[in-house]
Amino acid sequence: MDSDVGGEAATTNNSPDGDQMTTISLHFFSDDADDDDGFSIQIIENMKEDYGLFVWPSSIALAEYVWQQRSRFSGTSVVELGAGTSLPGLVAAKVGAEVTLTDDFNRVEVLENIRKVRDLNKLQCTVVELTWGVWDAHIFDLHPQIILGADVLYETSAFDNLFSTVAFLLQKNPGSVFITTYHNRSGHHLIEFLMVKWGLKCIKLVDAFSFMPSDKAAELGGNIQLAEIVLDNPQGRAASTDRSAPKRHRFSLSQKDPVTKSADSMM
Ligand SMILES: C[S@@+](CC[C@H](N)C(=O)[O-])C[C@H]1O[C@@H](n2cnc3c(N)ncnc32)[C@H](O)[C@@H]1O
Repeated sequence: MDSDVGGEAATTNNSPDGDQMTTISLHFFSDDADDDDGFSIQIIENMKEDYGLFVWPSSIALAEYVWQQRSRFSGTSVVELGAGTSLPGLVAAKVGAEVTLTDDFNRVEVLENIRKVRDLNKLQCTVVELTWGVWDAHIFDLHPQIILGADVLYETSAFDNLFSTVAFLLQKNPGSVFITTYHNRSGHHLIEFLMVKWGLKCIKLVDAFSFMPSDKAAELGGNIQLAEIVLDNPQGRAASTDRSAPKRHRFSLSQKDPVTKSADSMM
């Protein structure tokens, strides 16, 4: 991940709880300055804490994509994975989607912050603990048509758990799509490799700067890609996604899995 935060019009020391490291950033969405349909989202960020407590550039890109595709999102069921400060999911809720914001059950502060930003923006999203690669009752209750994930492809050791969850949700919800933004550090090899491994296919792969308005693009660094991913063979089973019992356990691939090692070497 790059360290530039990319929030618009960040206001420091404006913390609800008086914490000097906590800021509230404002993120605007409109087609142009005079657009009456536009709105802003406020995000509570904390620079000293977890990765999930500030707005990463990939999140700004994915939120902008949701805004630009708002008619597609309106009325759909959306789940955001690794939501962190949740900007894309909050924009989806604002444009009329029924949204569930999720993050790792171990990250209590991140989950608490998600509830705070939801309430701050007066949105009706559900907040759920969802750890990638863990099958507990929560995941069986989710029925997303669209799965969002901003900057969730950053730690190679987590890829298998993340993609086992994504493949499971895509398998369980026919016609669903995973839309993710990530920093491209390895050409397109990484995404191609993950598609093959998990029985998925990429139906769209674009440079985020191709759709970002110039003022927002100027704030972002790095090479951010947006991918739309679906099951490659909806009739067949995605790799390793047979989950029948709603109990909490961690799914892991064999330690000897040679393909996992190749993923590491690609980063
Ligand atoms: C780099 S941050 C991105 C946060 C946010 N999506 C954004 O782009 O601003 C990665 C997020 O993934 C979450 N995360 C990391 N490992 C996870 C796991 N195993 N299960 C669920 N969430 C996880 C972190 O808590 C964090 O919110």
